[in-house]
Amino acid sequence: MTQTVLQSPQCVTDNFKHALQERLKDRKNLVYFASGRSIRNGYSDLPYENVVLVDRCFKEVLSVHGKVLCIGLDSVQATALFKQINAKFDAFVCINEGLSEGGGHYPIHGNWSLSNILPILKDEYLHIACPEYYGQRKWKKMSDLPQQAVLLSEKDSGYIDPKMFSDYHKYGKEFCVWKVTKQAGEPVSFKCGNREIAVQRANIWDAYELDALFVRCSPGEAQNLKSVAPRAEILKDHTFEQILRYCNRNKISKLGLSPWLRHNYDGFLTFLEVNEERFPYPQQIHFYHLHKNDFQQLYARAKQHEEC
Ligand SMILES: C[S@@+](CC[C@H](N)C(=O)[O-])C[C@H]1O[C@@H](n2cnc3c(N)ncnc32)[C@H](O)[C@@H]1O
Repeated sequence: MTQTVLQSPQCVTDNFKHALQERLKDRKNLVYFASGRSIRNGYSDLPYENVVLVDRCFKEVLSVHGKVLCIGLDSVQATALFKQINAKFDAFVCINEGLSEGGGHYPIHGNWSLSNILPILKDEYLHIACPEYYGQRKWKKMSDLPQQAVLLSEKDSGYIDPKMFSDYHKYGKEFCVWKVTKQAGEPVSFKCGNREIAVQRANIWDAYELDALFVRCSPGEAQNLKSVAPRAEILKDHTFEQILRYCNRNKISKLGLSPWLRHNYDGFLTFLEVNEERFPYPQQIHFYHLHKNDFQQLYARAKQHEEC
């Protein structure tokens, strides 16, 4: 694949996807989301075979400059493209997506966004970010994920100088490099009437083989996300009854849900039980969460069932 230029998302033809797939397959790949348009000195010296820059401001959907590939899509669409071609990355960079000024509409490290991106990152990967960009309190929540993250220093093997990716450090903001190992929690399960309920600290986007997912999403991005992930519905748009109506209309047997009720799920379980005859679907519900303390009521319910 040499100096290829595509002008619009519609031009991402199957042939082209195939070429991109071959280029990234079984290679050491780095991806930089909201990279800006400059191809900085040093990218071609990085210890990666492909350095993929994703920014909605690139004029072309795809252009290739030696080992640097520029993808002119927003992060949701680029993620969908990488998923389609089964691309996996060894390193993920995102520093300063221009939230106060500079074209960023939502934090890419926000849970709904990053959880969608995580499946394109390998089970062990390098993560480069600037926590202070969001503020330490927000970052603490954003980084409460089912994973082990080891902060690397210059002396550690695999460390790369994060300052090469952005000038934002010139404002006194520290960039960090972590070696991340994904680590899903143990699933637990129990019966709610005839329905099977499973709960797991894991990424709901790793469960896309379920019949439908109801997820949280930034309101401005909901249509965009649904256009690339048609089996995903947005939780906020639905009452309990609407969720069950949707499942029965579409014969959704296995449903995935992420947290949305501010820790209070007993009411939902009662609703499921009371409405079992009226709404037999879904037969299985999988609750997925990222934060350590989510779904405490559901874990307590599973423990009670185990003790009976
Ligand atoms: C302020 S610039 C910073 C560029 C680079 N990260 C740096 O620090 O030099 C922010 C860039 O992020 C891009 N951007 C923001 N949100 C994005 C998204 N969701 N998807 C793709 N690009 C995004 C904008 O187009 C803009 O080029």
